[in-house]
This record gives sequence, structure tokens and C-alpha cells, in this order.
Amino acid sequence: MTSPGLFVSFEGIDGSGKSTQARHLAKTLEAEGRPVLLTREPGGSPGAEEIRNLVLNGDPDRWSAETEILLFTAARRDHMERTIGPALAAGQVVICDRFADSTRVYQGLSRGDLRDKVDALHDLMIGREPDLTVLIDMDPVTGLSRALGRHGRDTRFEGFGLDLQERMRAGFLQLAASHPGRFRVVDGDGPVETVARAVRAVIGTALT
Ligand code: TYD
Repeated sequence: MTSPGLFVSFEGIDGSGKSTQARHLAKTLEAEGRPVLLTREPGGSPGAEEIRNLVLNGDPDRWSAETEILLFTAARRDHMERTIGPALAAGQVVICDRFADSTRVYQGLSRGDLRDKVDALHDLMIGREPDLTVLIDMDPVTGLSRALGRHGRDTRFEGFGLDLQERMRAGFLQLAASHPGRFRVVDGDGPVETVARAVRAVIGTALT
């Protein structure tokens, strides 16, 4: 399925700075006069934001990995139907802070190998990838200290610790290597403005 807009996702481990970079890119493109929708997962529509609260808060053992796959995919389906799909159809540049690659890595790799289940459910219920995925790559030690320093509200996943972050980083890099046409890997360890210039440069060719 093709649509007139451009669908860009940002991925990276917790504390990688991808949310800052997603916001920065949205502002830059708006200043260039492009119609932009900045959104995030889990969330991005009223129903999906409710699922976000369920899945990101509470005890780390609250949900099994399998149940999380269902919850994140349910949230994504609602987000696609109500927010992303209409914006792309209207020709907007959709910038999404996390998308299905987060499920592939976090739920697919963190507690056993569930990648096949993630991919099967994605094909069944979502059936679309971003046109471009910017992976903000970050050393997990730096990323974790940034993430913990923030004292955010959604702390359930950050409680999983450094070992998880290391595996998640490797998972993202592996995904990027297997989908070189879609992924652009940007080094996130630098001043915000420097990283932002690198991000704008790597999506340059997709925006004519
Ligand atoms: P996010 O709000 O992007 O937090 P951060 O800015 O700290 O990266 O994401 C919250 C958490 O949700 C994050 O730890 C990753 C997790 N997550 C999944 O486990 N699976 C998913 O499919 C998505 C979208 C997020």
C-alpha cells in the first residue's frame, strides 16, 4: 500500500535521545514548510494512550512477553487506524517515536525468542512498515544513566536494567543490518544539534 505522505519512525534504547531527535526533526521540517505529524508509541491515539498506561506502569512481572505483544499491537492498530493512516493519506510527514521495531526488539528478544510471533501478528494486524527508520544508536551505559536521571512516569521497562539495554541495542543494530533500505543508523552520542544535523542529512534523500 502506498500513500502520498512519508512515514518516518525513530528507534533506540531508553535514553538514546530519540524522542528529542524526533521532536527536533518535526520542528525542522515544519520550519521548511512541510506538513508534519509528530506522534509516539505506545500511544498516539486516545485508545492507544490508555493501553500505554496499562503496559508501561506497574510491576515488571505484570504482563508476560506474549501478552505485551498483543497489547502493543492492539495499541498500534488503533494508532494506525485513527492517527497515522489518515495523516499519511493527507500527505503529511508522520514522525513516530517508536514503532514495530520496538516490539520486535523489546518483546521479541528480551524474554526468549518471540520474534516469529511478533512478525506474524504484525503481518496479520498492521501490515505496514515505516518508509524510513532512524536508529539513534547509543552506548547502553550512557543511555541508562540518561534514562534513570529523567525520573519519568513510565518506569516499568527502565527497571529491567543495563543487561537488557545491551541486548536491546544489539537487537536494533541487527534489525538495521537486515533492512538496510529502510534503516538509517545515527550515532546518538553527541550534542543534540550535532545529532539533529546528522538525522536531517540521512532523511534528506527521502524528502525532495
Ligand atoms: P518510550 O516512551 O519511547 O520511552 P523512552 O523515551 O524512555 O524510550 O517507550 C517506553 C517503553 O516502552 C520503552 O522502554 C520501550 C517500550 N516499548 C516496548 O517494549 N515495546 C514496544 O512495542 C514499544 C512501542 C515500546
